[in-house]
Amino acid sequence: MLSLYLFLLPCLSLLPLAAAAKGLEFPQYDGKDRVLDINDRNYKKALKKHTMVCMFYHGPMSDSKELQNKLQMTELVLELAAQVMEEKDIGFGMVDSHKDAKVAKKLGLEEEGSVYVFKADRVIEFDGLLSANILVEFLLDLLEEPVEVLENALELKAFDRMEEDIRLVGYFKSEESEHYDAFKEAAEQFQPYIKFFATFEKSVAKELTLKMNEVDFYEPFMEEPVTIPGKPHSEEELVEFITEHRRPTLRKLRPEDMFETWEDDIDGIHIVAFAEEEDPDGFEFLEILKEVARDNTHLPGLSIIWIDPDDFPLLIPYWEKTFKVDLFRPQLGVINVTDADSVWMEMDDEEDLPTAPELEDWIEDVLSGKINTEDDDDDDEEDDDEDDEDDDDEDSDDNNIEEDDDDEEDDDDDDDDDDDDDDEDDDEDEDDDEDDDE
Ligand SMILES: *[C@@H]1O[C@H](CO)[C@@H](O)[C@H](O)[C@H]1NC(C)=O
Repeated sequence: MLSLYLFLLPCLSLLPLAAAAKGLEFPQYDGKDRVLDINDRNYKKALKKHTMVCMFYHGPMSDSKELQNKLQMTELVLELAAQVMEEKDIGFGMVDSHKDAKVAKKLGLEEEGSVYVFKADRVIEFDGLLSANILVEFLLDLLEEPVEVLENALELKAFDRMEEDIRLVGYFKSEESEHYDAFKEAAEQFQPYIKFFATFEKSVAKELTLKMNEVDFYEPFMEEPVTIPGKPHSEEELVEFITEHRRPTLRKLRPEDMFETWEDDIDGIHIVAFAEEEDPDGFEFLEILKEVARDNTHLPGLSIIWIDPDDFPLLIPYWEKTFKVDLFRPQLGVINVTDADSVWMEMDDEEDLPTAPELEDWIEDVLSGKINTEDDDDDDEEDDDEDDEDDDDEDSDDNNIEEDDDDEEDDDDDDDDDDDDDDEDDDEDEDDDEDDDE
């Protein structure tokens, strides 16, 4: 008894501390089912009931244990997100591409493994890292107003610091202005990926050197914005301009749209810079890289992806293995997105970081094809460690962040053939829309 008391004593003394720690309680999944299994009969109701509905579109249940686990893990992510967002009136569902093919078609779901968010009459695809953290952040961003209004110098300062994001800022007479309306409509189409700001204050507009109804477009990491020509702008004109100028010269890989960015390759390759912003070398390298990007922003075929490894801790070992680079140091390379084959700029540990002209020369050689991922394949074959190379290549295929989904699809397709005669879809073809409107 005494020993138990002694054992409890330190715990008791901790109690006030534990109480003081209130306010940092991480939510844990409570086990309640909140994610709907979306089908013909419930999808309209779900859309009607919530201001926003978040649907995960996935391949059919397969026999593979690994894929089953993966789907269950994703479901848990959605359940936790649904629990956390319960107060925010967001519905969650899962749509099976096989069982619910008809619903998927009606909703316009296309890419298996993607999350689609339905908000009013818009569908926003989430093609990012499917973790509860990232998904919830994304949904919260979507709940905000599509345009943020800048009212004073302090807010302007915050705006100035957002150099990683594509931003637009416009100066309008008032909230009632029809041109502001058009701007807002355009903003909704890019929310939450592109940030829209507006001001109605003459002083703020002056700081931004904006004339009435003028809209400036800020490319990430560039010093000066581009004024969108031909003010005032209609919604369509704004959308057209943004769509055309959307791919920046230097872009940061972000968890919330990493797959979309990765799929936006240029002729099958990406020029990638790894640099830790918090690390002195990484920071300096990034500054040089920004300088190179600013000097070369006129090149339409140049879009460097900057990856801060700190943002993707789980991927670091995989990247180091696949690309055979040390991510504690800044790296610049070119990656073939088909097979994850890569070449990296020589940067000696002992030496100083490369200069801007050196980076520029290297990038020029990549753009001209002089440096490419294919040439060194021949070298590899002459290498003594040829076998190692082959092993690694196989591994990289399994783990490739992009190909993961494809592999899954392939597996699923094979499984499909077996249950293709599942009549469910056909039966429900008839009772179509009318089914359940409430
Ligand atoms: C990328 O790799 C694939 C497969 O090895 C190859 O066919 C293709 O030519 C490569 N692309 C480039 C741009 O090097």
